[in-house]
Amino acid sequence: MSAQNKLAVLFEGQGEFSKFEELAERLNVPVRQSNEQNSEAFFLTWRDGELKLLDKELLKKGGLSVDLAPRNGEQRSYPAPKEGAFAQAIGRKTKTVIDATTGWAQDSLCLFRMGYDVMCIERSPMMAALLTDAFERLARESWVKKLELSPPILMTGNAIELLKNLETQPDCIYLDPMFPPKRKKSALSKKSMTILQELVGEDLDKTELFEAAFAATGKRIVVKSPDYAEPLSGKPSESFSGKLLRYDVYLKN
Ligand SMILES: C[S@@+](CC[C@H](N)C(=O)[O-])C[C@H]1O[C@@H](n2cnc3c(N)ncnc32)[C@H](O)[C@@H]1O
Repeated sequence: MSAQNKLAVLFEGQGEFSKFEELAERLNVPVRQSNEQNSEAFFLTWRDGELKLLDKELLKKGGLSVDLAPRNGEQRSYPAPKEGAFAQAIGRKTKTVIDATTGWAQDSLCLFRMGYDVMCIERSPMMAALLTDAFERLARESWVKKLELSPPILMTGNAIELLKNLETQPDCIYLDPMFPPKRKKSALSKKSMTILQELVGEDLDKTELFEAAFAATGKRIVVKSPDYAEPLSGKPSESFSGKLLRYDVYLKN
């Protein structure tokens, strides 16, 4: 499913119009002015120096951007300790990780803060635009500059194809594809994930993605699943449980 017909770039009268046009052209969606009656349900625009995704409700105020702040409870030192189910699944000896389903990059950024060498893949051009903006902002953060760190490299496209042409094998490939929600509208699901679900839809090629990742990884694949979902590729080598979710680890050798 594509975001086309549902998405437009919104010009709210501030900033260089050409920047908005260039983004719209890149995403192949129209540019709208805020005073128009718009038929689209979702908009991208710059607010407070960040590229934001809006639905009709957020249009009045706010917007969703990729959040660079550490998660609740995460230590603010660099590198943050490799603790908890996620880090255990990725592996303490792992150095290089490809996140093949980057989405809002909350997992990628957590890996980055734990000191892993992270490369990101995302196939939705709309999400890739939000991620590009976020990684540019990350490069400007004082702690990133002080430690002379480089934000993750982003590759835009289908990971099933991109993973076939890697120059070097990563230690780990991380997969967090979109599963159908258990209930129609879960009170627990975050707005950012609900919107992504609406715009991008379920990832129906998860099995193919797993196979491509298995061929491309050096040592392991980690799949994040809701706790109610069956493992993506049979019995995993090991599993680590988090809150309402599971990390299934498939070791290559
Ligand atoms: C559930 S979200 C990932 C959320 C992410 N882990 C986070 O922390 O925000 C899944 C994302 O993976 C992307 N995706 C799914 N299959 C893909 C593929 N084969 N290649 C590239 N991106 C893919 C989807 O477009 C979507 O943005």
